[in-house]
Amino acid sequence: MAEARRVAVLGLGGMGQPMAANIVRAGLPTVVWNRRPGPARQLAEQGAEVADSPADAARRADVVITMVTDAEAVRAIAVDQGMLAAMPEGAIWAQMSTIGVSETERIAGLVQAQRPDVVLLDAPVAGSRGPAQQRQLVILASGPEQARTRIAPVFDAIGQRTVWAGPAGAGSRLKLVNNMLLAFVAEGIAESIALGHSLGLDRDAVLGALQGSPLVSPWAQEKLQRIGQDEYSAQYPLSLALKDVNLALREVDIDRFAVANSLAAQWQRAVERGLGDEDLTVITRALQH
Ligand SMILES: NC(=O)c1ccc[n+]([C@@H]2O[C@H](COP(=O)([O-])OP(=O)(O)OC[C@H]3O[C@@H](n4cnc5c(N)ncnc54)[C@H](OP(=O)(O)O)[C@@H]3O)[C@@H](O)[C@H]2O)c1
Repeated sequence: MAEARRVAVLGLGGMGQPMAANIVRAGLPTVVWNRRPGPARQLAEQGAEVADSPADAARRADVVITMVTDAEAVRAIAVDQGMLAAMPEGAIWAQMSTIGVSETERIAGLVQAQRPDVVLLDAPVAGSRGPAQQRQLVILASGPEQARTRIAPVFDAIGQRTVWAGPAGAGSRLKLVNNMLLAFVAEGIAESIALGHSLGLDRDAVLGALQGSPLVSPWAQEKLQRIGQDEYSAQYPLSLALKDVNLALREVDIDRFAVANSLAAQWQRAVERGLGDEDLTVITRALQH
């Protein structure tokens, strides 16, 4: 196989849907599948083929992308619903969901045992729904070097940049590092704004004072602007952000990461209060009440 001929995208949620749309837009033949049929129908209107099952999609493709919630969903698709078994000889599986290190290693073991001819790329992404729509994701890719040329047209269709990190597993490690930083920036914003509230400061005055500060990154600035408008619809849902902090904590000595552990406990309480589907910045609102 010289290069990617058809791409299957399995999982058309907030991230998978715009990623698939950009692959279609780039002119690559695309077949899509989602557990709920609605999102696939939308993509059919844009030119994608729709498959009846993960196995049906995988059978038709040289590159299969999985972009679902967690490792359980990846295994449900790949194993229980026959995706891995159906993949053509020598096809590429780009696993782009955020599932952490141990689960990625389990998946790699599974591929090695059941389909050693399949090339597994561990390639989670940095960037949320807006960047996914605007083809601005950064792909944290890892896996065999010989697959890079074949996958390049697909990753180029999805993101602004691909960072190759080493053997499969390295991409997931980088992703956890990225999201730990992101969690602390979000928490820093939440606690600062909540402190201003507790001190009796006017929120707009606080936001105005922080604007242009070297402490405020472009990402943080956008989040502060949304907070100023009381806009907490999900760009990156709190439940997924918490999943990623927990995936990181699973890999380390919790006593040395006590602050991250306490952040996870605080976010868990917010999820239990029903805030999990809102943007992770909803912690700002939660801390003010
Ligand atoms: N959102 C972000 O900002 C962001 C950024 C970077 C990385 N990520 C990561 O990207 C992945 C997808 O995120 P997302 O925002 O697209 O999530 P999402 O909008 O919640 O979509 C989740 C997708 O997974 C599917 N799914 C869940 N459980 C399944 C199962 N058991 N079997 C089959 N399909 C299943 C859902 O299907 P249904 O539609 O049928 O429910 C849906 O297509 C996650 O691992 C997330 O951590 C997200």
